[in-house]
Amino acid sequence: MDEWVFLTKDQKSVVVRHAKVADASEMFHCFCEVVQEGKWLPTTKPSSNQSEWARWIQRTYSNREVLLVARVEGEYAGHVSLQPEEWHASKHVARLGIIVRKHYRSKGVGRALMLAVEEAGRIQRYEKIVLSTFESNNVALGLYESLGYHIVGMREKHFLMPKGYINEVLMEKLIV
Ligand SMILES: CC(C)(COP(=O)(O)OP(=O)(O)OC[C@H]1O[C@@H](n2cnc3c(N)ncnc32)[C@H](O)[C@@H]1OP(=O)(O)O)[C@@H](O)C(=O)NCCC(=O)NCCS
Repeated sequence: MDEWVFLTKDQKSVVVRHAKVADASEMFHCFCEVVQEGKWLPTTKPSSNQSEWARWIQRTYSNREVLLVARVEGEYAGHVSLQPEEWHASKHVARLGIIVRKHYRSKGVGRALMLAVEEAGRIQRYEKIVLSTFESNNVALGLYESLGYHIVGMREKHFLMPKGYINEVLMEKLIV
């Protein structure tokens, strides 16, 4: 499947499709904006640049990584990624990352990306998705739990952010 179509909560069309190299600029800038918010990702400055994002997208054309973008009425709204675990014996397991642009949050875009990426993951023969989030990220926890991800552990004080230590919640879901 190359494209998935959903509706936002306010009935706008959300098209989720595989990322193209031309998406690199919007994806990278969204990533930078989310990093700058300082609340959701365990870094305070982006450790990559737009060219590296373009190369990442290019690589997904020929490997098992999955990178999907969501567009709401044609506007870039967010993206989701699946990357295989490194061990040979864990090739059936993918790590998930997701961000939605601030303006488009809480409208159903995250759910659309998650539903599409599970299907894209099955096509790439993944059987399990693992992810993690800050214990304080109630929106992400609500989204993941509502889709059947369950908590398998917590790493205490795993991140030191400017406002102090944050626990990392580890979650997973079998997708086959
Ligand atoms: C977390 C994130 C990906 C969720 O995407 P989203 O588009 O905002 O979420 P959706 O609108 O699809 O909502 C899905 C579920 O999330 C929860 N949720 C969404 N908005 C919420 C809010 N304002 N308060 C509480 N829960 C909320 C609900 O469980 C919701 O399900 P429901 O619509 O059936 O009530 C998005 O908010 C985001 O990118 N946040 C910043 C970056 C981030 O946290 N990335 C994940 C790091 S692990």
